[in-house]
Amino acid sequence: MRAVVLDPSGQLRDTELVKPSPSGRDLLVRVEAVAVNPVDTKQRATDTPRVLGFDVAGVVEETGPECEWFRPGDAVFYAGDITRPGGFSEYHLVDERIVGRKPSTLTFAEAAALPLTTLTAWEGLFDRLGLPEQGAHGTPVLLVGAAGGVGSIAVQLAKLAGLRVIGTASREASAAWVRALGAEGVIDHTKPFRPQLEALGLREVPYVFCLNLVDPNWDPMVDVLAPQGKLCTILPPMGQVNFRPLFDKSAAWCTEYMFTRAMFQTADMVRQHEILTRVADLVDEGRICTTMRSKLAPICAATLSDAFAQLRSGRTIGKICLEGWG
Ligand SMILES: NC(=O)c1ccc[n+]([C@@H]2O[C@H](COP(=O)([O-])OP(=O)(O)OC[C@H]3O[C@@H](n4cnc5c(N)ncnc54)[C@H](OP(=O)(O)O)[C@@H]3O)[C@@H](O)[C@H]2O)c1
Repeated sequence: MRAVVLDPSGQLRDTELVKPSPSGRDLLVRVEAVAVNPVDTKQRATDTPRVLGFDVAGVVEETGPECEWFRPGDAVFYAGDITRPGGFSEYHLVDERIVGRKPSTLTFAEAAALPLTTLTAWEGLFDRLGLPEQGAHGTPVLLVGAAGGVGSIAVQLAKLAGLRVIGTASREASAAWVRALGAEGVIDHTKPFRPQLEALGLREVPYVFCLNLVDPNWDPMVDVLAPQGKLCTILPPMGQVNFRPLFDKSAAWCTEYMFTRAMFQTADMVRQHEILTRVADLVDEGRICTTMRSKLAPICAATLSDAFAQLRSGRTIGKICLEGWG
Protein backbone atom coordinates (compact mmCIF):
# COMPACT_ATOMS: atom_id res chain seq x y z
CA MET A 1 0.00 0.00 0.00
CA ARG A 2 1.08 3.60 -0.56
CA ALA A 3 2.14 5.59 2.51
CA VAL A 4 4.00 8.74 3.48
CA VAL A 5 6.67 8.32 6.15
CA LEU A 6 8.80 10.68 8.20
CA ASP A 7 12.21 9.26 7.38
CA PRO A 8 15.24 9.28 9.72
CA SER A 9 16.54 12.48 8.09
CA GLY A 10 13.33 14.31 9.08
CA GLN A 11 11.89 14.49 5.52
CA LEU A 12 8.48 13.26 4.45
CA ARG A 13 8.86 10.53 1.81
CA ASP A 14 6.46 8.50 -0.37
CA THR A 15 6.90 4.77 0.08
CA GLU A 16 5.24 1.35 -0.15
CA LEU A 17 4.40 -0.57 3.04
CA VAL A 18 2.82 -3.96 3.68
CA LYS A 19 -0.96 -3.69 4.11
CA PRO A 20 -1.69 -4.62 7.76
CA SER A 21 -4.44 -6.97 8.91
CA PRO A 22 -6.73 -6.38 11.91
CA SER A 23 -6.78 -8.35 15.18
CA GLY A 24 -8.75 -7.89 18.43
CA ARG A 25 -10.90 -4.75 18.32
CA ASP A 26 -9.00 -3.17 15.42
CA LEU A 27 -10.65 -2.01 12.22
CA LEU A 28 -8.70 -1.97 8.96
CA VAL A 29 -9.74 1.32 7.34
CA ARG A 30 -9.24 2.35 3.70
CA VAL A 31 -8.10 5.94 4.14
CA GLU A 32 -9.95 8.37 1.85
CA ALA A 33 -8.95 11.67 3.45
CA VAL A 34 -6.75 13.00 6.23
CA ALA A 35 -6.18 16.32 7.98
CA VAL A 36 -2.92 17.71 9.31
CA ASN A 37 -2.33 18.93 12.86
CA PRO A 38 0.50 20.80 14.59
CA VAL A 39 1.26 17.54 16.44
CA ASP A 40 2.42 16.02 13.10
CA THR A 41 4.92 18.81 12.61
CA LYS A 42 6.29 18.39 16.15
CA GLN A 43 7.23 14.70 15.81
CA ARG A 44 10.95 13.96 15.87
CA ALA A 45 12.46 11.67 13.27
CA THR A 46 13.29 8.19 14.59
CA ASP A 47 15.76 5.57 13.37
CA THR A 48 12.97 3.78 11.55
CA PRO A 49 10.60 5.57 9.15
CA ARG A 50 7.34 6.51 10.88
CA VAL A 51 3.83 7.10 9.51
CA LEU A 52 2.21 10.24 10.97
CA GLY A 53 -1.36 11.51 10.57
CA PHE A 54 -3.96 11.71 13.31
CA ASP A 55 -7.18 12.64 11.54
CA VAL A 56 -8.72 10.12 9.16
CA ALA A 57 -11.97 9.66 7.26
CA GLY A 58 -12.37 6.42 5.39
CA VAL A 59 -14.23 3.15 4.91
CA VAL A 60 -13.93 -0.02 7.00
CA GLU A 61 -12.32 -2.73 4.86
CA GLU A 62 -12.02 -5.53 7.45
CA THR A 63 -12.75 -5.97 11.14
CA GLY A 64 -10.83 -7.76 13.88
CA PRO A 65 -12.49 -10.84 15.48
CA GLU A 66 -13.59 -8.91 18.61
CA CYS A 67 -15.14 -5.88 16.83
CA GLU A 68 -18.76 -5.22 17.75
CA TRP A 69 -19.79 -1.86 16.36
CA PHE A 70 -18.60 -1.60 12.73
CA ARG A 71 -18.80 -3.71 9.59
CA PRO A 72 -16.96 -3.66 6.25
CA GLY A 73 -18.32 -0.81 4.14
CA ASP A 74 -19.06 1.54 7.07
CA ALA A 75 -17.78 5.09 6.58
CA VAL A 76 -15.91 6.26 9.70
CA PHE A 77 -13.86 9.15 11.06
CA TYR A 78 -11.38 9.22 13.95
CA ALA A 79 -8.18 10.73 15.35
CA GLY A 80 -6.39 7.55 16.38
CA ASP A 81 -3.60 6.84 18.81
CA ILE A 82 -0.24 8.62 18.86
CA THR A 83 1.52 5.50 20.17
CA ARG A 84 0.65 3.65 16.91
CA PRO A 85 1.35 4.36 13.22
CA GLY A 86 -0.74 7.26 11.90
CA GLY A 87 -3.12 7.48 8.96
CA PHE A 88 -0.97 8.83 6.10
CA SER A 89 -1.27 5.41 4.44
CA GLU A 90 -3.82 3.81 2.12
CA TYR A 91 -4.90 1.39 4.87
CA HIS A 92 -4.78 1.99 8.60
CA LEU A 93 -5.50 0.03 11.80
CA VAL A 94 -7.49 1.68 14.59
CA ASP A 95 -9.25 0.46 17.73
CA GLU A 96 -13.01 0.72 17.18
CA ARG A 97 -13.48 2.20 20.68
CA ILE A 98 -12.05 5.53 19.44
CA VAL A 99 -13.87 5.58 16.09
CA GLY A 100 -17.18 7.25 15.14
CA ARG A 101 -19.44 6.87 12.13
CA LYS A 102 -18.63 9.53 9.52
CA PRO A 103 -21.22 12.32 9.23
CA SER A 104 -23.20 11.35 6.11
CA THR A 105 -23.66 14.97 4.99
CA LEU A 106 -19.91 15.63 4.71
CA THR A 107 -17.37 14.60 2.10
CA PHE A 108 -14.45 12.52 3.36
CA ALA A 109 -12.19 15.59 3.38
CA GLU A 110 -14.74 17.68 5.26
CA ALA A 111 -15.11 14.89 7.82
CA ALA A 112 -11.35 14.40 8.22
CA ALA A 113 -11.14 18.03 9.42
CA LEU A 114 -12.97 17.23 12.62
CA PRO A 115 -11.94 14.30 14.86
CA LEU A 116 -8.71 15.36 16.64
CA THR A 117 -9.75 18.95 17.25
CA THR A 118 -13.34 18.03 18.14
CA LEU A 119 -12.23 15.48 20.72
CA THR A 120 -9.86 18.07 22.20
CA ALA A 121 -12.54 20.76 22.34
CA TRP A 122 -15.27 18.43 23.62
CA GLU A 123 -13.11 16.80 26.30
CA GLY A 124 -11.73 20.20 27.36
CA LEU A 125 -15.10 21.94 27.64
CA PHE A 126 -17.21 19.15 29.04
CA ASP A 127 -14.93 16.53 30.65
CA ARG A 128 -12.18 18.78 32.07
CA LEU A 129 -13.83 22.20 32.64
CA GLY A 130 -17.02 20.36 33.60
CA LEU A 131 -19.31 22.63 31.59
CA PRO A 132 -22.77 21.32 30.65
CA GLU A 133 -23.20 20.05 27.06
CA GLN A 134 -26.36 22.16 26.82
CA GLY A 135 -28.30 24.73 28.80
CA ALA A 136 -25.31 26.75 30.00
CA HIS A 137 -27.49 29.90 30.19
CA GLY A 138 -24.97 32.36 28.81
CA THR A 139 -22.11 31.61 31.21
CA PRO A 140 -19.09 33.38 29.68
CA VAL A 141 -16.13 31.36 28.40
CA LEU A 142 -12.97 32.85 26.91
CA LEU A 143 -11.47 30.74 24.10
CA VAL A 144 -7.87 31.77 23.50
CA GLY A 145 -6.71 31.03 19.94
CA ALA A 146 -10.22 30.63 18.56
CA ALA A 147 -9.46 30.70 14.81
CA GLY A 148 -7.18 27.65 14.70
CA GLY A 149 -8.21 24.06 14.16
CA VAL A 150 -9.22 23.46 17.77
CA GLY A 151 -10.71 26.92 18.20
CA SER A 152 -12.90 26.61 15.12
CA ILE A 153 -14.79 23.65 16.59
CA ALA A 154 -14.56 24.79 20.23
CA VAL A 155 -16.43 28.01 19.34
CA GLN A 156 -19.24 25.97 17.79
CA LEU A 157 -19.50 23.45 20.64
CA ALA A 158 -19.41 26.16 23.30
CA LYS A 159 -22.09 28.14 21.49
CA LEU A 160 -24.25 25.02 21.15
CA ALA A 161 -23.88 24.41 24.88
CA GLY A 162 -25.41 27.82 25.50
CA LEU A 163 -22.23 29.51 26.68
CA ARG A 164 -21.47 33.15 25.94
CA VAL A 165 -18.42 32.72 23.71
CA ILE A 166 -15.63 35.27 23.59
CA GLY A 167 -12.80 34.18 21.28
CA THR A 168 -9.36 35.61 20.62
CA ALA A 169 -7.94 36.26 17.16
CA SER A 170 -5.24 38.71 16.11
CA ARG A 171 -6.06 39.44 12.47
CA GLU A 172 -9.06 40.72 10.57
CA ALA A 173 -9.51 37.47 8.63
CA SER A 174 -9.19 35.22 11.70
CA ALA A 175 -11.48 37.47 13.78
CA ALA A 176 -14.13 37.40 11.01
CA TRP A 177 -13.96 33.58 10.91
CA VAL A 178 -14.40 33.32 14.70
CA ARG A 179 -17.41 35.65 14.56
CA ALA A 180 -18.91 33.70 11.65
CA LEU A 181 -18.65 30.48 13.69
CA GLY A 182 -20.78 32.02 16.42
CA ALA A 183 -18.55 33.91 18.88
CA GLU A 184 -20.38 36.83 20.44
CA GLY A 185 -17.20 38.82 20.98
CA VAL A 186 -13.65 38.69 19.64
CA ILE A 187 -10.60 40.15 21.38
CA ASP A 188 -6.99 40.25 20.19
CA HIS A 189 -4.51 37.96 22.00
CA THR A 190 -1.61 40.28 21.10
CA LYS A 191 -3.14 43.08 23.22
CA PRO A 192 -4.04 43.25 26.95
CA PHE A 193 -7.17 41.17 27.59
CA ARG A 194 -8.75 43.12 30.46
CA PRO A 195 -9.64 46.40 28.70
CA GLN A 196 -10.93 44.50 25.67
CA LEU A 197 -13.16 42.33 27.85
CA GLU A 198 -14.35 45.37 29.77
CA ALA A 199 -15.36 46.92 26.46
CA LEU A 200 -17.58 43.85 25.99
CA GLY A 201 -19.10 44.43 29.42
CA LEU A 202 -17.15 41.70 31.21
CA ARG A 203 -14.86 42.32 34.20
CA GLU A 204 -13.83 38.68 34.48
CA VAL A 205 -14.71 35.24 33.14
CA PRO A 206 -15.38 32.07 35.15
CA TYR A 207 -13.93 29.80 32.43
CA VAL A 208 -10.87 30.20 30.21
CA PHE A 209 -9.98 27.53 27.63
CA CYS A 210 -6.54 28.11 26.11
CA LEU A 211 -6.27 26.46 22.68
CA ASN A 212 -2.84 27.74 21.82
CA LEU A 213 0.49 28.68 23.43
CA VAL A 214 0.28 28.89 27.23
CA ASP A 215 3.27 31.12 28.07
CA PRO A 216 2.41 34.34 26.20
CA ASN A 217 -1.23 34.07 27.27
CA TRP A 218 -0.75 33.01 30.89
CA ASP A 219 -0.63 36.38 32.66
CA PRO A 220 -3.58 37.94 30.80
CA MET A 221 -5.64 34.74 31.15
CA VAL A 222 -5.06 34.47 34.89
CA ASP A 223 -5.70 38.20 35.24
CA VAL A 224 -9.22 37.95 33.75
CA LEU A 225 -10.09 34.59 35.33
CA ALA A 226 -12.70 35.04 38.08
CA PRO A 227 -11.90 33.96 41.65
CA GLN A 228 -12.72 30.23 41.93
CA GLY A 229 -12.76 30.04 38.14
CA LYS A 230 -11.32 27.28 35.93
CA LEU A 231 -8.56 27.39 33.33
CA CYS A 232 -7.92 24.53 30.89
CA THR A 233 -4.84 24.38 28.66
CA ILE A 234 -4.13 21.95 25.81
CA LEU A 235 -0.38 22.54 25.88
CA PRO A 236 2.06 22.56 28.79
CA PRO A 237 3.86 25.83 29.51
CA MET A 238 7.27 25.80 27.78
CA GLY A 239 8.91 28.00 30.42
CA GLN A 240 8.04 29.11 33.93
CA VAL A 241 4.63 30.62 34.64
CA ASN A 242 3.61 32.49 37.78
CA PHE A 243 1.24 30.20 39.67
CA ARG A 244 0.69 32.60 42.57
CA PRO A 245 -2.21 34.67 41.13
CA LEU A 246 -4.04 31.44 40.26
CA PHE A 247 -3.53 30.21 43.82
CA ASP A 248 -4.73 33.49 45.33
CA LYS A 249 -7.94 33.07 43.33
CA SER A 250 -8.42 29.43 44.45
CA ALA A 251 -8.75 28.80 40.73
CA ALA A 252 -8.43 25.38 39.11
CA TRP A 253 -6.02 24.62 36.29
CA CYS A 254 -6.80 21.48 34.29
CA THR A 255 -5.22 20.07 31.18
CA GLU A 256 -6.54 18.27 28.13
CA TYR A 257 -4.60 15.92 25.89
CA MET A 258 -6.82 14.04 23.48
CA PHE A 259 -4.38 11.14 23.17
CA THR A 260 -4.54 10.33 26.90
CA ARG A 261 -7.46 7.89 26.73
CA ALA A 262 -5.97 5.74 23.96
CA MET A 263 -2.39 6.06 25.25
CA PHE A 264 -3.31 4.73 28.72
CA GLN A 265 -6.19 2.52 27.49
CA THR A 266 -8.35 4.15 30.17
CA ALA A 267 -11.51 2.35 31.24
CA ASP A 268 -13.54 5.15 29.63
CA MET A 269 -11.72 5.27 26.28
CA VAL A 270 -15.02 4.37 24.61
CA ARG A 271 -16.04 7.95 25.38
CA GLN A 272 -14.21 8.98 22.20
CA HIS A 273 -16.45 6.66 20.16
CA GLU A 274 -19.45 8.25 21.90
CA ILE A 275 -18.25 11.83 21.33
CA LEU A 276 -17.55 11.26 17.63
CA THR A 277 -20.90 9.53 17.14
CA ARG A 278 -22.69 12.42 18.86
CA VAL A 279 -20.75 14.92 16.75
CA ALA A 280 -21.70 13.08 13.55
CA ASP A 281 -25.36 13.48 14.58
CA LEU A 282 -24.87 17.19 15.32
CA VAL A 283 -23.25 17.71 11.91
CA ASP A 284 -26.01 15.80 10.10
CA GLU A 285 -28.64 17.82 11.97
CA GLY A 286 -26.93 20.98 10.66
CA ARG A 287 -26.01 22.18 14.15
CA ILE A 288 -22.24 22.25 13.62
CA CYS A 289 -20.27 22.55 10.42
CA THR A 290 -16.96 21.27 9.14
CA THR A 291 -13.91 23.38 9.93
CA MET A 292 -12.12 22.54 6.65
CA ARG A 293 -10.83 25.74 5.01
CA SER A 294 -8.56 24.30 2.34
CA LYS A 295 -8.13 20.99 0.54
CA LEU A 296 -5.05 19.56 -1.12
CA ALA A 297 -4.74 16.46 -3.31
CA PRO A 298 -3.51 13.83 -3.59
CA ILE A 299 -2.21 12.56 -0.23
CA CYS A 300 1.55 12.38 -0.86
CA ALA A 301 4.82 13.70 0.55
CA ALA A 302 4.74 16.87 -1.57
CA THR A 303 1.23 17.98 -0.56
CA LEU A 304 1.82 17.01 3.07
CA SER A 305 5.07 19.00 3.14
CA ASP A 306 3.14 21.99 1.79
CA ALA A 307 0.46 21.55 4.48
CA PHE A 308 3.09 21.19 7.23
CA ALA A 309 4.78 24.43 6.07
CA GLN A 310 1.45 26.28 6.27
CA LEU A 311 0.82 24.91 9.78
CA ARG A 312 4.28 25.92 10.96
CA SER A 313 3.44 29.53 10.11
CA GLY A 314 1.00 29.48 13.07
CA ARG A 315 -1.43 31.55 10.99
CA THR A 316 -3.73 29.01 9.39
CA ILE A 317 -7.46 29.44 9.90
CA GLY A 318 -9.58 26.30 10.39
CA LYS A 319 -8.22 23.04 8.97
CA ILE A 320 -6.19 21.86 5.98
CA CYS A 321 -7.34 18.48 4.61
CA LEU A 322 -5.95 16.14 1.96
CA GLU A 323 -8.02 13.73 -0.11
CA GLY A 324 -7.37 10.77 -2.41
CA TRP A 325 -4.25 8.87 -3.42
CA GLY A 326 -4.00 10.10 -7.03
N1 LIG B 1 -3.77 18.70 23.92
C1 LIG B 1 -4.27 18.29 22.79
O1 LIG B 1 -4.88 17.21 22.73
C2 LIG B 1 -4.11 19.14 21.57
C3 LIG B 1 -4.97 18.91 20.49
C4 LIG B 1 -4.87 19.72 19.37
C5 LIG B 1 -3.91 20.71 19.32
N2 LIG B 1 -3.06 20.86 20.37
C6 LIG B 1 -2.04 21.92 20.30
O2 LIG B 1 -2.74 23.15 20.37
C7 LIG B 1 -2.13 24.12 19.52
C8 LIG B 1 -3.18 24.67 18.58
O3 LIG B 1 -3.64 23.65 17.72
P1 LIG B 1 -4.49 24.03 16.43
O4 LIG B 1 -4.67 22.79 15.65
O5 LIG B 1 -5.67 24.83 16.79
O6 LIG B 1 -3.41 24.97 15.71
P2 LIG B 1 -3.51 25.87 14.44
O7 LIG B 1 -4.73 25.54 13.67
O8 LIG B 1 -2.21 25.78 13.75
O9 LIG B 1 -3.66 27.34 15.06
C9 LIG B 1 -3.53 28.44 14.23
C10 LIG B 1 -4.10 29.65 14.95
O10 LIG B 1 -3.29 29.97 16.07
C11 LIG B 1 -3.56 31.33 16.40
N3 LIG B 1 -2.44 31.84 17.19
C12 LIG B 1 -1.17 32.07 16.77
N4 LIG B 1 -0.43 32.54 17.81
C13 LIG B 1 -1.26 32.60 18.89
C14 LIG B 1 -1.08 32.99 20.24
N5 LIG B 1 0.08 33.44 20.71
N6 LIG B 1 -2.14 32.91 21.08
C15 LIG B 1 -3.33 32.48 20.65
N7 LIG B 1 -3.56 32.08 19.37
C16 LIG B 1 -2.54 32.14 18.51
C17 LIG B 1 -3.69 32.01 15.05
O11 LIG B 1 -4.70 32.99 15.14
P3 LIG B 1 -4.40 34.51 14.69
O12 LIG B 1 -3.95 34.39 13.27
O13 LIG B 1 -5.71 35.18 14.86
O14 LIG B 1 -3.32 35.02 15.61
C18 LIG B 1 -4.09 30.88 14.08
O15 LIG B 1 -5.38 31.05 13.55
C19 LIG B 1 -0.98 23.41 18.83
O16 LIG B 1 0.21 23.71 19.51
C20 LIG B 1 -1.32 21.94 18.98
O17 LIG B 1 -0.19 21.10 18.98
C21 LIG B 1 -3.14 20.13 21.50
